[in-house]
Amino acid sequence: MDKEAGKRLAAEEAANHIERDMTLGLGTGSTAAYFVDIVGKLVSEGWDLRGVPTSEATREHAERVGVEIIEPDEATVIDLAVDGADEADPSLNLIKGGGAALLREKIIAYAAKKFIVIADKSKRVAALGAFPLPVEISPYSWALTVAALRRTLADNGFAEANLELRARDGEAVKTDGGNLIIDCRLGRIENPAALEKALAAIPGVLESGLFCGMTRMAIFGGEDGITINGA
Ligand code: A5P
Repeated sequence: MDKEAGKRLAAEEAANHIERDMTLGLGTGSTAAYFVDIVGKLVSEGWDLRGVPTSEATREHAERVGVEIIEPDEATVIDLAVDGADEADPSLNLIKGGGAALLREKIIAYAAKKFIVIADKSKRVAALGAFPLPVEISPYSWALTVAALRRTLADNGFAEANLELRARDGEAVKTDGGNLIIDCRLGRIENPAALEKALAAIPGVLESGLFCGMTRMAIFGGEDGITINGA
C-alpha cells in the first residue's frame, strides 16, 4: 500500500467521528485534503456541516467541494478538528508545520472540543525530532528573534541545533498570516512539552510546531489497515 492509500484510510476512519450537524476545523496538507473531500461528499448528501479552514489552500479546497466556510474571525465553537502531522509520538505529541500553517492549525486544534490527527504510518515515531521543527516567527526584527531562539534551544540541550529560514526560489516563505518559518534541526526531543513551553516564552515566536497535550486521537493508515492511538 502506498502512502496515499494510508492517508485516505486514516481520513475515512476520522470521518466516522463526524455528526450530521457540526462545525469542523479543517486542517492543512495532503492528508487533511482527503478529509476535506469526505466532508464535501457528506454535505452533498445533505449533512449540515461547516468548516473553519486553517489555510487559504484549505479554504479554496473546501469551497470547491461545497463546504460552507465559517470565517475564522467569526468562529466561536469547533466541534471536531482533523489535521495531518509531520511526526506523532506514542503520547500523541506532534510536530506540525511542514506546510507552514502551524499557527492557524494550532489555534483551531486547541479550540476544538476534539482534535484528531490523521497520517500514514510513516509519521508514527518513537520520539519526535527527526523532522526539523518549524517555528513561526514575526517578520519584525526577525534576526533578533532567531538569536533568542538559538539561545533558548541551547539552554534546552540543543546547542548544536541547525536553524534555517524557510525559503523557496530564493525568497523567504511567508505564511498565510505574513509570518516567517524557521526550521530547526534538533534531533531527538526528549521532553517536547518543556521545549514547547520554552519556545512559546520568546517574544517574536508566534508558535512552534510542537503540539503537546492537544490530540485526543491519532489515526494511522497503512499496509495492515488502521492503527488508532487514543480515544
Ligand atoms: C501543515 O502546516 C502541516 O502541519 C501538515 O498538516 C503536515 O505537514 C502534514 O502534511 P501532509 O499530510 O501533507 O504530510
